[in-house]
Amino acid sequence: MEDSLYEIVRVRGLPALDSRGRPTVRAVVETRGGRGYALAPSGASTGEKEAVELRDGGRAWKGRGVGLALARLETVVAPALVGLDSRDQAGVDTTLAALDGTPNKSFLGGNTTTAVSMAVARAAASTSGLPLYRYLGGPAARLLPTPLLNVINGGAHAGNPLDLQEFMIIPVGASSILEALRMAVEVYEDLKSIIAERYGKQATAVGDEGGFAPPVSRAREALDLLAAAVERAGYTLGRDFLLGLDAAASQLYRGGKYVLEGEGLALDRDGLLEYYESLAAEYPIAYLEDPFDEDDWEGFREATKSLGGRMLIVGDDAYCTNPRILERALREGVSNAALLKVNQVGTLSEALEYARLALHSGLRVIVSHRSGDTEDPFIADLAVALQSGLIKTGAPARGERTAKYNRLIEIEAELGGAARYAGRAPFP
Ligand code: PGA
Ligand code: ZN
Repeated sequence: MEDSLYEIVRVRGLPALDSRGRPTVRAVVETRGGRGYALAPSGASTGEKEAVELRDGGRAWKGRGVGLALARLETVVAPALVGLDSRDQAGVDTTLAALDGTPNKSFLGGNTTTAVSMAVARAAASTSGLPLYRYLGGPAARLLPTPLLNVINGGAHAGNPLDLQEFMIIPVGASSILEALRMAVEVYEDLKSIIAERYGKQATAVGDEGGFAPPVSRAREALDLLAAAVERAGYTLGRDFLLGLDAAASQLYRGGKYVLEGEGLALDRDGLLEYYESLAAEYPIAYLEDPFDEDDWEGFREATKSLGGRMLIVGDDAYCTNPRILERALREGVSNAALLKVNQVGTLSEALEYARLALHSGLRVIVSHRSGDTEDPFIADLAVALQSGLIKTGAPARGERTAKYNRLIEIEAELGGAARYAGRAPFP
């Protein structure tokens, strides 16, 4: 194919709404031979070291407008990218970082750089005629990730008094992504019935990631609901399903203590570790994300020492998808898994470097959505491309979550007999 077909000829931005109804950036990139788009997602429980979004402030859109981000996309980014080869992702992303000139993408906005960077990858894939997962991952990209479905929401994502942010079901007993989703949907339906029986129908409203937000305050009550739902759906906990938690513990850390208001506890590091250990003794928990404050790496290390043999201890806010932070964490032996969110670092190339660093050091990588997300299924293709074997993209409900699941179903069908489902393999 003619090389010139990959040349970027046009870069545009448009405003769009995310799943919370807040404005975000859509980038559209055209090459001579194709085009690609991407939408930036947006977090609520963001890490301190994340790329920051550029927002307008003022009254319109309650201060969250992206007018300035779109203006910089048009006047600063577009002229610099036109003429570049869309396959040169690293070159494009280096250019974005140089144009931005700040350590946290605050001039262009992480929302701008994320959308543009991902749209360039899609444009190159479209020009090549390859699906995105194949373009990014090559012919070896045929592993469908095991989904971690956040079906009970708490913390910053819901209005209930649950301290921990996410309670996940993990369909490890399936043999395909489609079967995994069927099993998860069955449990999700039974979970809804059980919540309605125990707490009333008004308790079945959902939180930001599509999980239910029942009026329970203790983690054990939420885990009991999951166990009951798995059983009612006819599955065996520990065999067909494992469980996962995202504590998002930076949100709990106040004045040197971990304050679990729902539990009525204020714990130090050792106390919080004992709390996790006692939950792990009662339930088949195979995944524990951000168990300690993002700067409390000693807590992470202790958790990995104590629980890492039977579950993934995952750094999210602790690493912010930043390769430089991860390098330090790898030297210090902080966790055995790392969450990946492209918009935490702001470019696809940096996220790919982070994934490579983690995978080469034997850490598991979980490709993740944000609590504010969009209909863009980019991360489904990315998870298959990386062969990471794990994806976290919410409940099997709400369009911005199902967009990713539906894309995985499509990829699995396209791969046909070559497709493999990760199942239990990624877990210790
Ligand atoms: P966020 O939450 O997108 O609001 O940061 C997701 C997570 O903590 O994993
Ligand atoms: Zn998290």
